[in-house]
Amino acid sequence: MNKLLEVSDISKHFGGVTAIHNLTFSLEKGEILGVIGPNGSGKTTLINLISGIYGPNQGRILYKGQDTMGLKPNRLVRLGLARTFQATVLYSEATVLENVLRGTHLIMESGFFDFLFHTKDARQKEKEAMEKAMAYLTFLGLDKVLDQQVKNLPYGYQKFLGVVIALATGPDLLMLDEPAAGLNMEEALEIKRAIEKINDKGITLILVDHNMRFMMSLCHRMVVLNYGEKIAEGTPQTIKKDERVIKAYLGGGHSGGHN
Ligand SMILES: Nc1ncnc2c1ncn2[C@@H]1O[C@H](COP(=O)(O)OP(=O)(O)OP(=O)(O)O)[C@@H](O)[C@H]1O
Ligand SMILES: [Mg+2]
Repeated sequence: MNKLLEVSDISKHFGGVTAIHNLTFSLEKGEILGVIGPNGSGKTTLINLISGIYGPNQGRILYKGQDTMGLKPNRLVRLGLARTFQATVLYSEATVLENVLRGTHLIMESGFFDFLFHTKDARQKEKEAMEKAMAYLTFLGLDKVLDQQVKNLPYGYQKFLGVVIALATGPDLLMLDEPAAGLNMEEALEIKRAIEKINDKGITLILVDHNMRFMMSLCHRMVVLNYGEKIAEGTPQTIKKDERVIKAYLGGGHSGGHN
């Protein structure tokens, strides 16, 4: 069995709003899975559920065969599950290197006792994360700007930096929420190449983005959400021609200009 993730019949409600409704899909090791759908269709909520920020009201999520119910985001990060956020969370006054240091520290932050006593285990994990971060900075061409303040970098580099910080935790599954949003065509192409390189290293990816050209050219398979429900699933080729998808999303002026 090569399933990395199995999402079975999950639902998530916020008060009267159903953000995810009876959703089932699975993910093979090594895949790039795209999740698309109109604004408010539940894409970010899905990432929040998989990364343990929320628990589902119903259903089950298995990661590497293990039920993730009740596991905190930090615990899931240690099991190899990492994500970036839709809005880039960076310290704009700090340099690239300082951001990586702080970012890896925050993500890898150990348990309360590790934190109090700064244990050997915690120090070792941080050291490893730092080494990984440095390797990925070089891998993605950011090693030339280590000493620059983030606010002076092009937006594309800032997006890369968020990805590097997630990669530094050594994920098997990486989820990127709108990696191409706000990027120009050239920057989107660069991040596409970077994602392909990351996938070549054997890292499985879930991508959410409104840039259809970007998504269609990168994803092996796609899941389409509408009002929290899966309305289609398949290769980019089949998704492009799916009547329900065209009606709900592709035909409605969501051609990629979304921020
Ligand atoms: N923490 C929350 N509290 C209340 N409602 C929420 C919360 N998070 C999401 N929602 C609601 O759940 C629905 C799905 O939102 P979500 O952010 O997952 O959509 P999305 O597909 O990521 O949209 P976008 O493309 O605009 O990023 C929306 O109606 C949203 O208002
Ligand atoms: Mg979103």
